[in-house]
Amino acid sequence: MTVPAFADWMSQTNDVTEVFLAAGQIPDLINMAGGLPEPTLWPVAEIADLAARVVHDDPAQALGYSPIAGLPALRDAIAARFSTPDLPLGRDNVLITTGGMQALDLLGKVLLEPCGQIAAQSPTYLGALDAWRPRAPAYRPMVLGANGFDPVAALRGAAFAYTVPNFSNPTGRLVGTAERAALLEAARQTGTWLVEDDPYGTLCYDDAPLPRILSLAGTGGAYDGPVIYLGTLSKELAPGLRIGWVIAAPRMIAALTTAKQGSDMCTSGLCQMIALRAFEHGLVDRIQPQVRDLYRSRRDALCAAMDRHLSGVLDWQVPRGGMFVWATARDPRLDTDGLLRVALEHGVCIAPGSVFDPLGVDRRSLRINFTLNPPDRLVEGTRRLAGAISACLAACGPSL
Ligand SMILES: Cc1ncc(COP(=O)(O)O)c(C=O)c1O
Repeated sequence: MTVPAFADWMSQTNDVTEVFLAAGQIPDLINMAGGLPEPTLWPVAEIADLAARVVHDDPAQALGYSPIAGLPALRDAIAARFSTPDLPLGRDNVLITTGGMQALDLLGKVLLEPCGQIAAQSPTYLGALDAWRPRAPAYRPMVLGANGFDPVAALRGAAFAYTVPNFSNPTGRLVGTAERAALLEAARQTGTWLVEDDPYGTLCYDDAPLPRILSLAGTGGAYDGPVIYLGTLSKELAPGLRIGWVIAAPRMIAALTTAKQGSDMCTSGLCQMIALRAFEHGLVDRIQPQVRDLYRSRRDALCAAMDRHLSGVLDWQVPRGGMFVWATARDPRLDTDGLLRVALEHGVCIAPGSVFDPLGVDRRSLRINFTLNPPDRLVEGTRRLAGAISACLAACGPSL
């Protein structure tokens, strides 16, 4: 009997998500792998109240199909929120998506031919690599800030460029204003779309936010530039609402809307209405200081524990925002793919660098999340990780 087949790209996926899911079954495991928020920060009573009211007061919008591009009032609210004097945005600059993840998927659909080229900030968000994998893209990894990095050469001929300039996932790196301007200038010179993915922009713990690349692209007139900005409520309010948005030139919004029609037809009207009211009532802005304070203290707890337990074996920089510390093994014999399995035996889960490498070859880095666990668990998780690293290195034998 012939066995029914799957598409080729299915054999290109990595098994790390499966490992993470299985890890959920391990008792007392400390999960420092995912990018999960602290659930007690969700304003549950307020969201429940908004949900009840929008269903009761406006069932047609909350429970019916929405326009494909999103509820007009929510598109207007996003346009107003991101407008500046140099960047007057209108409704036709905004598409509402089902999470930021859908925006990445739709971009792959409208911009990538099979085996098309992507200039991607490296290392790269795992979900973006997953979203684009069916098109089998060829990656040009952009190591922003590296000596000799030439944005024009990187962008020329690519279908699009992808960056997470604020506290990137996975590295927590903040792309400086000059680098942002250089990427924008390269996008203008080469005619290449520049995707600015920004889930972590509000999670800044030490400094004022830097200007968005989108804002730098404002020219004072109706926006029609090369920057495609992606936002989401996942880190600012709650990921379960699955509310994201794209801000871009009207022709890009129209193309993405066509792709969205064949994807989910529309984002949940109920969730869009909750998001709209949450913006209107100031709920989104009100909870940000509390979110930042909690995550800052957890970052500090993790980094202090890493100083104590890991400074002999790993190098890292304290991130100034976001959700992650990115660390690199000092000893090249430490294989972080192998470390994941040993770490699970020690009761802690981390994300190995290979899954964020567009070329899949990094075996020396790892990503550690600090937002999900309270300080005592972060300290214990770090201690366990140090034990796992020692076990891995001991298994390598004496260093030369
Ligand atoms: C860089 C980046 N982009 C996009 C997303 C997608 O977020 P969501 O689909 O929850 O909006 C995430 C989630 O962690 C992310 O880290």
